Amino acid sequence: MEKQILFKYLLFDHEQQLDESLQKLLFASREATKLSYAPYSRFHVGAALLLENGEIVKGSNQENASFPAGICAERVALSTASSLFPSEKIVAIAISYTNAATDIVAENILSPCGICRQSLVEASHRQISNIKVILSSPAGQIIYLDDASSLLPLAFTSNDL
Ligand code: THU
Repeated sequence: MEKQILFKYLLFDHEQQLDESLQKLLFASREATKLSYAPYSRFHVGAALLLENGEIVKGSNQENASFPAGICAERVALSTASSLFPSEKIVAIAISYTNAATDIVAENILSPCGICRQSLVEASHRQISNIKVILSSPAGQIIYLDDASSLLPLAFTSNDL
């Protein structure tokens, strides 16, 4: 039996194509890039979560001289939200970056790494509802997804334990 998994996403050229609350979230993720500690990669990532109570929780990547000890912006934001507001659902996550290693304004849209996808799936599974995703490039292009879990098809979850 052949099966297929498809997911749809929207590609925007401008943030004004997002609704107002998601635009605000995108701006918060851009702000969060400024709090990044990335002296090794010079790749400054910011993530912002919109919670159901309206709160915005930010995170940025935090690197370490022992490289594997560094943490991505997305997981900093997810852990902060879970610690401060454990029972608030996450409505959406926005992710931005700047690359201080180059003067070129990148058009590449950053998509979360595999470990962060696993953490997003866990958060979504735990709250039993989807998390919207806004991915962005420094040049302004945006990808919008309805459901973070679509980034990790056939994921391992607590259902498998
Ligand atoms: N990074 C993130 O914070 N989020 C991502 O989605 C991709 C990568 C960080 C990890 C590291 O500090 C730097 O970006 C370069 O990989």
